[in-house]
Amino acid sequence: MDIELTEEQRQVRDMCRDFAAKELAPNARRWDEHHEFPREAVKKLGELGLMGIAVPAEWGGGGMDNVSYAVAMEEISRGCGGTGVIMSVSNSLYCDPVMKYGSDEQKAEFLRPYASGERLGAFALTEPQSGSDAAEMKTVAVARGDEYVLDGAKIFITNGPQADTILVFAQTDKAKRHKGITAFLVPTDAKGFARGKTDDKVGIRASGSCPLFFEACAIPKRFRLGAEGDGFKIAMGTLDGGRIGIAAQALGIARAGYECARAYAKERKAFGQPITQFQAIQFMLADMATEIDAARLLIWRAAGLKDKGARFSAEAAMAKLFASEMAERVTSKGIQVHGGYGYVKEYDAERHWRDSRITEIYEGTSEIQRLVIAGNLLKD
Ligand code: CAA
Repeated sequence: MDIELTEEQRQVRDMCRDFAAKELAPNARRWDEHHEFPREAVKKLGELGLMGIAVPAEWGGGGMDNVSYAVAMEEISRGCGGTGVIMSVSNSLYCDPVMKYGSDEQKAEFLRPYASGERLGAFALTEPQSGSDAAEMKTVAVARGDEYVLDGAKIFITNGPQADTILVFAQTDKAKRHKGITAFLVPTDAKGFARGKTDDKVGIRASGSCPLFFEACAIPKRFRLGAEGDGFKIAMGTLDGGRIGIAAQALGIARAGYECARAYAKERKAFGQPITQFQAIQFMLADMATEIDAARLLIWRAAGLKDKGARFSAEAAMAKLFASEMAERVTSKGIQVHGGYGYVKEYDAERHWRDSRITEIYEGTSEIQRLVIAGNLLKD
């Protein structure tokens, strides 16, 4: 089994590593503190082909594979966890389904400028009363003449405050529950669309999320993505890919936490010697490095299966489950290595822990990943 990156994948990694070191890491603490969206950096990600990595070049994307996407997500998230999720939503949750289900006419309008990073997309599934139980959504879309009219609300929508178009899921036939859900491309200048206040989050504060409101929001019928009733399957298939992106984001955040702990441990002295001389610290660093490598292997396996066109739902869920919980453990140990300095904002250790925490919640909680994995294990 070959677990080496190809020459092209190594080039993507090196390019992203360089970009993260120059453009992201030096600004990440300020973006976090001021809850500031990294507009210039996101524009540059687009110019580097990183906002639609696996979208073919003819549709404005990077024309690369999903392993490259995972590698890029790790490096970008190592520089800034918040920037990582902005990129992941654009790639996995917006460009991927529009590429897969969009007509050429829809791709020209709703994919090309998004994959190239001129515009930003978002994905709106979650509602106030339905997070894990996604099919329980209340937002409705009623067909009227040449239009659909949307009414309802979504919450916690990453990229919501900045997005130009949002992939919105709504019920077109409530009696059919998940089989009555349909996907729509809703431009954020549509009449009847409004955003709520940006969420004041614990971590990944460079990225914005907010509630969305639809009040008699009319969009042309041609903005429907896929057929009526296909929305739930589109959402679930999309989230399979998204979970690879979030797993790689968690991996990048964990690496940042591990690397700053290692650097601190090499400098810090206690009882007359560097703390790296103590087995307590050595063992923590050893566990952190081992878990990081294990997560990477799970992520590359899931991405490789996606590249082959094979089923990868369970493998993506395993990667996301392990990488997110690993990131929380590793960044928490990173704080421990720093002692008191880990608990104050002058050091980055606490930010990495705060950034890691959400990866166990969004795009399916750890509990949902276990359900997906078990469901696949017990299928036959
Ligand atoms: N691909 C394609 N189809 C799928 C699928 C997949 N991965 N998983 C399920 N389906 C299909 C099933 O085959 C089934 O189809 P049929 O009715 O034709 O048989 C249908 O979907 C319903 O499946 P279930 O009965 O398993 O559905 P359920 O209602 O029990 O829910 C669930 C399953 C896994 C719990 C799902 O609701 C889920 O994933 N919940 C978590 C939601 C989530 O991840 N939200 C994240 C929001 S986005 C976000 O977080 C972004 C961000 O901020 C960055």
